[in-house]
Amino acid sequence: MTENGLKILVVDDESIVIRSCEIVLKGAGYHMEGALGGREAILKMEKERYDLVFTDLKMPEVDGITLIRWLRNSRPDTGIVILTGYPSQDTIKEALGLGIIDYVPKPFTPAVLLDVTRRAVQWLETRKPGAFAISAEMSSPAEPVRDDFPPAMAAELDKVIAHYKHIPGSLIPVLQRAQEMIGWLPVAALKRVSKGMNIPAAEVHSVVSFYSFFTMKPRGDHNIRVCLGTACYVKRAEEILRNLKEGLGIGVGEVTPDRKFSLEEVRCLGACGLAPVVVVDHDTFGGIDPKNSMEIVEKYR
Ligand code: FES
Repeated sequence: MTENGLKILVVDDESIVIRSCEIVLKGAGYHMEGALGGREAILKMEKERYDLVFTDLKMPEVDGITLIRWLRNSRPDTGIVILTGYPSQDTIKEALGLGIIDYVPKPFTPAVLLDVTRRAVQWLETRKPGAFAISAEMSSPAEPVRDDFPPAMAAELDKVIAHYKHIPGSLIPVLQRAQEMIGWLPVAALKRVSKGMNIPAAEVHSVVSFYSFFTMKPRGDHNIRVCLGTACYVKRAEEILRNLKEGLGIGVGEVTPDRKFSLEEVRCLGACGLAPVVVVDHDTFGGIDPKNSMEIVEKYR
């Protein structure tokens, strides 16, 4: 499958979104068409084959979830990406349960749309058996269980694996549970999941590296996420990030030596009206003055 041979359908009830996707995707050489809603999309797909469908969720008549269900039944080989403004965790979980590849948060930048599209194309290609690339990290022999993955957690993870191992399509919930327990996904945990669920290590690794909500990097007791999405960026989010890096003495993706804080940058937290936004654990801070960035963090010391 080549990028040029790939056919993409963008489904959204806002023509401006379709137009924006057209400018970006067609500009990058993709074959893309648009449909103004789920109903129009189904009519188009009854006549033509599309490899990848980007769909909004909230649409009149036939909404995104209904469209995804239809695709799963009638066009099971089609890759699906959701394109949505404020996805709740439940909506994302429901969509993941229906087998979506990823989601693009609105508003999106051309770079984000192209990045997700490229990864979706890779995903479609890797669906072919034997096409998963085994990373050197995963294939290294005898990886010990690390201190940050203690035996008690391993036993707990084994229980989760035992519960899910015969349920088809349950790799993502198992990985989610593992990340909730450990805080991140060390290689040892991935190997344990791979072995316990009898899923090739490369496939487990591929899923973890594909979904942005999984992390293979350790997090501190408090995880700080700085939004660099468009709305936050224009309100000096970069300055906030710079001040946090300086104040904590770490870079993005790193943890402070006392393991208290970790720092991440994200593309949109779905709270653009509060821009610029920083989230510490589950607490959202909006309208931040960059010079007060460290004051937020100090509360968690
Ligand atoms: S751009 Fe949406 S929350 Fe920052």
